Amino acid sequence: MGEALRVGIAGLGTVGASVARVLSEKTAELTRQCGREIVVTAVSARDRAKDRGVSLGDAQWFDDPVEMARSAPIDVFVELIGGENGTAYACVKAALEAGRHVVTANKALLAAHGVAIAQAAEKEGVLLNYEAAVAGGIPVIKTMREALAGNAVTRVFGILNGTCNYILTRMEQDGLSFAECLEEAQRLGYAEADPTFDIEGQDTAHKLAILTSLAFGSEISAGDIYLEGIANITQADIRAAAELGYRIKLLGVAQKTESGIEQRVHPTMVPTSSVIAQVHGVTNAVAIETDILGELLLSGPGAGGEATASAVVGDIADIAKSRPGFQHGPVFGWPARELTPYKRARMRAHAGGYFIRLTVADRTGVFAAIARRMADNDISLESIVQHANGDMADDRKTVILVTHETTEAAVRKAVKEMTADGHLVDTPQVIRIERAE
Ligand code: HSE
Repeated sequence: MGEALRVGIAGLGTVGASVARVLSEKTAELTRQCGREIVVTAVSARDRAKDRGVSLGDAQWFDDPVEMARSAPIDVFVELIGGENGTAYACVKAALEAGRHVVTANKALLAAHGVAIAQAAEKEGVLLNYEAAVAGGIPVIKTMREALAGNAVTRVFGILNGTCNYILTRMEQDGLSFAECLEEAQRLGYAEADPTFDIEGQDTAHKLAILTSLAFGSEISAGDIYLEGIANITQADIRAAAELGYRIKLLGVAQKTESGIEQRVHPTMVPTSSVIAQVHGVTNAVAIETDILGELLLSGPGAGGEATASAVVGDIADIAKSRPGFQHGPVFGWPARELTPYKRARMRAHAGGYFIRLTVADRTGVFAAIARRMADNDISLESIVQHANGDMADDRKTVILVTHETTEAAVRKAVKEMTADGHLVDTPQVIRIERAE
């Protein structure tokens, strides 16, 4: 039996406490699997007195996580503090510089500084594991970094935010309001400290930026992501989608195109029959398309203490199993110094189908004017329907357009022209349609 692996945990919130609990409850199993014991020897959190319902054994307490990263008797520093800069960044840097392995669940940190900290880890010859940063308990990093060696990825997309998927599912299945569903997601511990990060799409964007780098060997570029959240999705959209054979999901999509890499996060219509449309509630899913394998879809619990702890413990166990001198794979699949600069594809060049919901004044010629604007912009329509009036006043009608493949530029121009024509009496709703099996 090898020497015990000494672990320091910084941050004892929902995830940190779950990690400590799993490590203590599963000692026998983990020792058998790793060939050595994993022991928590140091911890750091804001409030020492707080009851977290977990025994921290003889672990040494540190008020300052940076100090713990530098000088605690640990082999692995587990960062569960969160946040892009500040303490989390300072302690991860300090841990790497002190030659300790790092496990983090911090997507914001990786999205902002991933390449720099990967370079530091690779320089020091230590491991930087971050499975829990993307899609909670789903082993997507391991799959992309290890299992898909030799595959060229053409597109990666997924439901990467449990809170948004929970909200959209509850809105669809139970007809609840957006606000009611968000409150529930917060109560269940899925949402970020600031839930606008979930609903405006930043959380998905951070995770997508990491997947993009792994997929295409490019530097992480979270600032280059086209972003739309779910706050504007209404029951009218959800109902219209269902009637047309679609479901609305907040997707993160990264795709290679002729002009560069497209990264986008937005509410998306996926065919109701597709596998990803069956992913409900807090569950996440990631689809990876490659030249050798075709399409792979992974799905599982994407948020919450236990799911995230499962991924963190898996990362710690990988370090426990590793041996000195063993050459580990690079942090983002390619050596961090060899990642290529990110080349952004323009969103206006995005090609795909579109759902457009218009609220129009009910008068002669409106349908014809709408159809003319679409034709003027070379947009071919799959369907155009005038919708039941619902609870709107009689002088307003809903018109739903579904297009064949066209471009973002054409749709934006057509919608702008229709607005200028003066027939629209409410803001048009435009939702992209994604190809999915
Ligand atoms: N707030 C995130 C979510 C937690 O809802 O998916 C996991 O990153």
